[in-house]
Amino acid sequence: MNERTNLTDPAPIKTLPDAQTVTEVQHYTDRLFRFRVTRPASLRFRSGEFVMIGLLGANGKPLLRAYSIASPSWDEELEFYSIKVQDGPLTSKLQHIQPGDQIILRPKPVGTLVHDALLPGKRIWFFSTGTGIAPFASLIRDPETYEKYDEVILTHTCREVAELTYGRELVQSLKDDPLIGEMVEGKLRYYPTTTREESPKMGRITTLLEDGTIFRDLAIDGISPGTDRAMVCGSLAFNLDIKRVLEGFGLREGANSEPAEYVVEKAFVG
Ligand code: A2P
Repeated sequence: MNERTNLTDPAPIKTLPDAQTVTEVQHYTDRLFRFRVTRPASLRFRSGEFVMIGLLGANGKPLLRAYSIASPSWDEELEFYSIKVQDGPLTSKLQHIQPGDQIILRPKPVGTLVHDALLPGKRIWFFSTGTGIAPFASLIRDPETYEKYDEVILTHTCREVAELTYGRELVQSLKDDPLIGEMVEGKLRYYPTTTREESPKMGRITTLLEDGTIFRDLAIDGISPGTDRAMVCGSLAFNLDIKRVLEGFGLREGANSEPAEYVVEKAFVG
């Protein structure tokens, strides 16, 4: 009998003020899953921001990590997209959550991947690898994105094809979305690539930008600071490499306090 079925055990998290209830869990691969939780009525956030979420550790103390909110700000629930690391302190346990379980959520959203950190532009690029697509899952569902830009390009690079499923299904579902389907139509372009398994488009996005492949594929002249804005989310190594590429195109890094042409954030890793 495990903790969940042992009804004589009190459920300790329920007594915490920041507890939220899991409403849905979907597993994509043995390393990736998505889950939804109830949203505190008082929680306001800007699309692209992250919060601290977690579980109670063995010592009874909260074990929390930063997670981008993958759902849009108009959604009545919160969605998260997570890696599963078998010996990761949090995700080794978090991967077993089921609807009805409780997680801890600290309702203090922060982050740099927000529209306010960018100067106005014509086209926005969302560059992601792995679970770095999470903040963009929120931003591509935000009407503000389509009000601010004529064109929205989401790139997602993963090692294997199955790791693209979450993003691909999300992009497909937007076309029929009653709230933003019409805004997305003709504006959102999706550019998935893989690096270690055969797929229609292969290669690191940094390479595809540097050799011009992506511009030919999308029939775009290139990236320039006059028209283009970018948000980046992936591993540390990816973030560093793509920063160099974007700076090469003349884009400068912005912040909430000083908006410019691109912003970067590290994806959750363990
Ligand atoms: P690659 O397979 O060539 O390493 P990871 O799972 O290691 O975070 O990688 C996710 C995806 O990001 C992979 O397709 C990986 O390509 C790519 N990637 C990792 N590091 C970089 C980098 N420094 N620049 C560009 N792409 C990267």
